[in-house]
Amino acid sequence: MPIERPRGTNDYGPEEMARRRAVEGILQDAAHRFGFREVSTPTIEHLDLFTTKSGPGIVKELYAFKDKGGRDVALRPEFTASIVRFYLSELRNLPKPIKVYSVGNVFRYEEPQKGRYREFTQFNAEIIGAPALQGDAEVVALAIECLRSVGVRDIHVRVGHIGMLRAFLKLPPEDQGKVIHWLDKRDFTALKAELTRLGLERMAAPLRQYIELKGGPEVLDQGAKLLAGVGTEGFEYLRALATRLKLYGVEHLTFDLGVVRGLDYYTGMVFEVDSPNLGAEKQVMGGGAYTLAEVFGGEPVPQTGFAFGLDRIVLAAAAEGVQLPVPRLDCYVIPIGEPLRTKALETLQTLRRAGVSADIDLLGRGPSKNLDYANAIHARFAVLVGEAESKKRRVAVKDLDSGKQEELELEALITRALQRPKA
Ligand code: HAM
Repeated sequence: MPIERPRGTNDYGPEEMARRRAVEGILQDAAHRFGFREVSTPTIEHLDLFTTKSGPGIVKELYAFKDKGGRDVALRPEFTASIVRFYLSELRNLPKPIKVYSVGNVFRYEEPQKGRYREFTQFNAEIIGAPALQGDAEVVALAIECLRSVGVRDIHVRVGHIGMLRAFLKLPPEDQGKVIHWLDKRDFTALKAELTRLGLERMAAPLRQYIELKGGPEVLDQGAKLLAGVGTEGFEYLRALATRLKLYGVEHLTFDLGVVRGLDYYTGMVFEVDSPNLGAEKQVMGGGAYTLAEVFGGEPVPQTGFAFGLDRIVLAAAAEGVQLPVPRLDCYVIPIGEPLRTKALETLQTLRRAGVSADIDLLGRGPSKNLDYANAIHARFAVLVGEAESKKRRVAVKDLDSGKQEELELEALITRALQRPKA
């Protein structure tokens, strides 16, 4: 029996991998343009890091086990807790604000389906130590810039405020976590059962109405009315955030008081981005302001960030027919007859040393089979090394996109090959 890959994991072939790397590169460029720098943390962490404050949803989905020394460890289900751990041990010595991003694989034991995997890749960005409004606006703007740069246009950005909901619930953290978990899952039966257990059944109806509020600034007034007695601070904050985001060119924000988030550490603004083309697993990004440093024993400091599901942006880009800047092989060198093989290898070296990506037949195939191969791997040019051209220190170059063939000196071929078309 052949060994299959574990359920919920993926193999990626060369074409898929090139698209993933292209998206990753675009996101990294956007983060650099915004002044974020890359950091990396381990894939495996002490279990406590994730059980302390990530919430019941994530804890249930952890890949947790004992290592050979009997220590409880877990594969990371996300980056935020690791970044805060790293911040408390080292990063806090850097000048503030700390603006960092990471890309890597994370693990959640979920029920797999299209766009939902047990191992997937996140692109994660965090700002620690910037005043809330400034930091929140910067991360929301970066998230939108990331999608714009990839070329995904059909998106819904929804912004809410979990702090208002927490203030309304006024419950001890564990009970609050459960209520918020059921709200996030939109499981109103479980929600009602939980509220009944807490003697708060009367809250079920207003909570349900509240999380359905979605639209322009008017929903902030409606939200304030429903949560009467809690104050309006969070709603005023969202108005100020929208005003600040206009300065970043972000015009159309949807306020969505139903953005509850599956993780327990959020305390302020929360936001999500959907790509409606993706069906059930349409959320490509989630994030918001949180307080984890305090939970891990640090001083209070504003923290905010987001993570994209890289797999889902790649799917969203494909659904919209976005042409990603996938690198192609520039030249495939074909000797016309066995005696020209040495000359062809020399040509190959010259091209490679000049920075042109070049490949050559390794199987001793004839010219026509080699041309088929060059087309199949989407090379840009076939470089035919023949007797007559060689004598003139030239090669025959076939543009595999247009089918046009001409004789060129190697220098001219190099110049042309290095002019790569932009996607
Ligand atoms: P999250 O919403 O749990 O947030 O995950 C972020 C994104 O990862 C989701 O929006 C989704 O695109 C993707 N994702 C989640 N689960 C899966 C899955 N099973 N398969 C494929 N993609 C998935 C966080 O992880 C927070 N740490 C984000 C954050 C950073 N908040 C503040 N800073």
